[in-house]
Amino acid sequence: MSGRVSGTRILVTGAGSGMGRSIARALAAEGARLTLFDLNGEAAEVVRDEIVSQGGEAVVSAGNVTVRADVAAAVAASVDAYGGLDVLFAIAGMIKPMHFLETTEENWRLTLDVNGLGTLICQQEAAKQMIAQGTGGKLILTSSIAGRQGYPNFASYCASKFAVTALTQAGARALAEHKITVNAFAPGVVDTPLWQKLDLDIMELGDTEKPGQAFAEFSGDILAGRAGRAEDVNGTALYLASSDSDYMTGQIVMIDGGMVLV
Ligand SMILES: NC(=O)c1ccc[n+]([C@@H]2O[C@H](COP(=O)([O-])OP(=O)(O)OC[C@H]3O[C@@H](n4cnc5c(N)ncnc54)[C@H](O)[C@@H]3O)[C@@H](O)[C@H]2O)c1
Repeated sequence: MSGRVSGTRILVTGAGSGMGRSIARALAAEGARLTLFDLNGEAAEVVRDEIVSQGGEAVVSAGNVTVRADVAAAVAASVDAYGGLDVLFAIAGMIKPMHFLETTEENWRLTLDVNGLGTLICQQEAAKQMIAQGTGGKLILTSSIAGRQGYPNFASYCASKFAVTALTQAGARALAEHKITVNAFAPGVVDTPLWQKLDLDIMELGDTEKPGQAFAEFSGDILAGRAGRAEDVNGTALYLASSDSDYMTGQIVMIDGGMVLV
């Protein structure tokens, strides 16, 4: 399949749902050769089948981003299927809101583990393969408006997304000598299964009264006039994966409809 990322070998974590699924499909439609990684292997298989039925290329590697052997296996799956790896999208992530004063050690550890350490492990395992190839590459991470602003009920999540900013900058400086760039995209409020569950979790905390209320309230001030859809990040993702972004590293691209202005 020809396109803007034709033949590019791309590993996408969190590919079974939401923005990971949307980005994987968009990359495949532009000719990428994909490895789909997710804790939910069955969901990733559904996405693989969607891509293959459209004439695209995709294989699945199920696992947990916090388990190095799982991530290494996903990199190996790309090497087995396509002979190497050119681009990583580290998209897998989670959020469990808690009132600031009640935020627990368990909530902190799990959130930082998945969103922070999981991102670092993906960067390391992907970069090791790119260095061995000697081809350079691109590591694309997933930040958030919560990586730019602290929100009272998301202390752990915000800390984990600020960690992604640190990993973007540290990785960019560490890997430049290998011609590996590191950038991140930062969505705002996007209507995905993550936010659908978050909306209900916020209601359970007692902060809202009905389903959809938290989502509507968080989306109220978006300059674009509406909440995001998973597809809204596809164009930025394609740009970051393509050679158009070659002269760019260590950057966080806000793609939030105008929520955080930096
Ligand atoms: N939805 C939003 O409004 C929003 C806004 C800003 C940033 N984000 C970030 O974007 C990313 C994708 O979010 P989404 O809304 O598409 O979520 P989603 O819940 O729809 O999809 C996340 C996927 O990641 C997978 N996953 C979770 N933990 C994992 C782990 N430990 N190992 C492997 N896979 C794992 C899940 O199984 C799921 O398929 C996340 O990093 C999230 O923090 C989301």
